Amino acid sequence: MKYVRLGKRGPKVSTIGFGAWAIGGMNWGKTDDRDSLRALHSALDHGVTLIDTADVYGFGHSEELIAKVIAERGKNNLVIATKAGNDFYNADEKDDQGYGPIKQTYSKEYLIFAAEQSIRRLGVEALDILQLHSPDLDKLEQEEPWQALEQLKRDGKILHAGLSIQSFKETEQAHLLDTHHDLLDTIQVRYNLLERQAEKVLFPKALQYGIGVIVRIPLLFGFLTGKFNTDSRFTEDDHRKMNLSPEKLEHYLGQVAKMRPLFDRYPQQTMAQVSLRFCISHPACQVAIPGAKTNKQVEENCAASDFGTIPEHEIPALDLM
Ligand SMILES: NC(=O)c1ccc[n+]([C@@H]2O[C@H](COP(=O)([O-])OP(=O)(O)OC[C@H]3O[C@@H](n4cnc5c(N)ncnc54)[C@H](OP(=O)(O)O)[C@@H]3O)[C@@H](O)[C@H]2O)c1
Repeated sequence: MKYVRLGKRGPKVSTIGFGAWAIGGMNWGKTDDRDSLRALHSALDHGVTLIDTADVYGFGHSEELIAKVIAERGKNNLVIATKAGNDFYNADEKDDQGYGPIKQTYSKEYLIFAAEQSIRRLGVEALDILQLHSPDLDKLEQEEPWQALEQLKRDGKILHAGLSIQSFKETEQAHLLDTHHDLLDTIQVRYNLLERQAEKVLFPKALQYGIGVIVRIPLLFGFLTGKFNTDSRFTEDDHRKMNLSPEKLEHYLGQVAKMRPLFDRYPQQTMAQVSLRFCISHPACQVAIPGAKTNKQVEENCAASDFGTIPEHEIPALDLM
């Protein structure tokens, strides 16, 4: 496993981390906590030092599983990046838009409350990174979410402040880095071989200001492992029923066919490994956080770190898409 500093002010982290959404046990079909705990332990055994989670994943359950692992093995050099703003504490059925009852709440008071709940749930003294959980732009144009991060930092409740940029708003929200680069230590971005909008405006700004970049959805929900085709179907309780619908799969299969020459260069590596290497090859990006449910997936994903970055001349041209 290779390690790198997450931006100019961030902690040192493994270049492959662990995305802990699916192990929360909601929105990804059935999960088994014993498998999830094994996957988390396996990640740490393979040198992972960054775990990305959110209070809302499994409505606290993802953080609780991480807390168990910390209690067993100690916190040591582990960096936990969590998120707040998807308020499941005060939401009811009418707020359910497919991910359970959740409201977007980015008031200063609520964010401080949510951070304190995550500290308690994780059993830590402070949150290593607290990320605003992909708010709409109108919420981010208010002062309160930024005041909350400032206050939490001042009070020592968070060590680093982050923003998880909303999917497909990478360009629209990029100007926020101009305004808040003194406060923002990290951003989290949806980025993978088939979704590269962030390269246009957002990544140059992250580089300019030395803001660390955490890459999410690096395997496009598992699609970039090569295991799905147009016949793949997902259960009702799996968000991929919508996000990898037969129509979307057909579109992605057409796009990924153009990447064949890149995969063919590395016959000894799996599609997942080449796809993950792509994500950490852009100079702005330090760590990819593939989600994983089993230790076999963890092992395969972690090995991608040691294969290192992909040389610039092998990266598919942006206009190929
Ligand atoms: N707004 C936000 O802030 C936001 C949004 C989305 C995600 N995230 C974060 O980003 C993390 C990563 O994104 P993601 O989990 O949505 O997508 P992803 O990492 O692209 O895909 C993860 C899924 O792919 C499958 N998989 C992983 N490794 C595999 C392997 N080696 N071989 C075969 N299948 C494999 C697993 O599902 P199956 O085994 O069921 O196929 C796994 O749950 C999340 O866990 C979360 O921490 C944040």
